[in-house]
Amino acid sequence: MRPASSAVFSSLTLCWVSVVAAAENSEAAIPQKLPPQSVFIDPRSFAVLNQNGPFRNDTFNQLFNPTSTAPPFFQIFDPAFLTILGPNPSFHIVASNDTFAFAHEAPIFVSELDEVFFASNDGGPLGNSDLNHNNKVGKISMKDVDAAFQSLKPGETGKAFQVPVTELVLPDTIQMTNGGTGPFKSSLVLINSGRGPLPPSIALVNPNPPHNATVLLDNFFGRQFNSLNDIKVHPTSGVFFFTDVTYGSLLAFRPPPVLPNQVYRFDPMTAEVRVVATDFNKCNGLAFSADGKTAYVTDTGANAGLQGNDFTAPATIYKFDVDPTTQTFLNRRIFAYVDTGIPDGVQLDTAGNVYTGCGDGVQVFSPSGTLLGKFFIGSVSANMVFAGDGRLVIMGETKIAVAMIAAKAVKLSFP
Ligand SMILES: *[C@@H]1O[C@H](CO)[C@@H](O)[C@H](O)[C@H]1NC(C)=O
Ligand SMILES: *[C@@H]1O[C@H](CO)[C@@H](O)[C@H](O)[C@H]1NC(C)=O
Ligand SMILES: *[C@@H]1O[C@H](CO)[C@@H](O)[C@H](O)[C@H]1NC(C)=O
Repeated sequence: MRPASSAVFSSLTLCWVSVVAAAENSEAAIPQKLPPQSVFIDPRSFAVLNQNGPFRNDTFNQLFNPTSTAPPFFQIFDPAFLTILGPNPSFHIVASNDTFAFAHEAPIFVSELDEVFFASNDGGPLGNSDLNHNNKVGKISMKDVDAAFQSLKPGETGKAFQVPVTELVLPDTIQMTNGGTGPFKSSLVLINSGRGPLPPSIALVNPNPPHNATVLLDNFFGRQFNSLNDIKVHPTSGVFFFTDVTYGSLLAFRPPPVLPNQVYRFDPMTAEVRVVATDFNKCNGLAFSADGKTAYVTDTGANAGLQGNDFTAPATIYKFDVDPTTQTFLNRRIFAYVDTGIPDGVQLDTAGNVYTGCGDGVQVFSPSGTLLGKFFIGSVSANMVFAGDGRLVIMGETKIAVAMIAAKAVKLSFP
């Protein structure tokens, strides 16, 4: 839900290859040989740019690509990223459409079908959706993606594929889907921003035709939500947690907001709904650690939709403890502030590394908050999902990129 970044910040000239890094593991040295499609950039190589240096003054439109490498590529800032990539990673565009941001949000992997579902941009650039037009939910088959990667010659880079994208026909209770997770009891969990007077909602959707849906929640004690944004199922309790934020109004497809920007808890068994975290500028993506004890919530305040960007507002990931009895989010602290765009969707791997969709692709932070590296696509990514171990599917608005890597997926499905 933000303007696509265009200009690539590329005028730094750096000596970056053969220096020992200030590593996450401080003993680790840079290996002699980096994996294909990767660059290592030692933070010490750009700590001083000098008086007439190529400083960036626009986090949304100037990307940090000092090596001017052609995307997609792996941008490594810490050797610990090599463990995530593994010895032989591969990174390609698998589908694209220059005129339609078909792959914005709500990525969901259904392992039984080996398919990834996603939603087009709702109300933002190239979304082909607005007050009068709903957005679309589509899917790709990971079998097609695997076949594409298998067709590559050893070490081949830079090839873009066009796997088939199938659009779903959904019931009209589903309006402006902006988030998704699961499957929950074999259904997709879609969270929808609503459109005009049509209420935002959380719904279960059959991943198989006829894609029938059951709406679980569409109000807070009779009051419509502003525009529901993103959702996760708590991994050990099966309770839903979701964000509500003002983007529907800021993108002119929803009425003026009537609630604060907050994180809610919804028990799908009892339908009890309550607030678990507040005091955000614009809460957005959320994720849990595999044990359910830690929550991450992004704040994308720096992007205010049609009201423009405010570089002084948050582009920030907060970390919380999940209270074991009430599941309230406690002890908010800063986890990361991102260097480019805003951190939108957020996902974890089994090692607890935190992946977030930003203005230049997917950025990956260690559990202690060190920026390890980026899946650099050169433009906005709002979210991503592991399609099982080692297959990272990156939503890139007008494109989908897939990275075949070593990292393993945390389970998002329930039960
Ligand atoms: C950034 O700097 C350029 C060149 O000096 C200038 O044209 C542009 O307006 C600046 N942008 C912002 C957001 O300050
Ligand atoms: C791109 O999206 C437009 C709008 O939905 C559609 O008409 C067109 O067929 C798509 N092109 C490709 C190559 O999928
Ligand atoms: C879809 O319909 C089938 C058959 O009636 C039902 O068993 C299933 O629960 C429905 N799924 C959803 C998500 O509504």
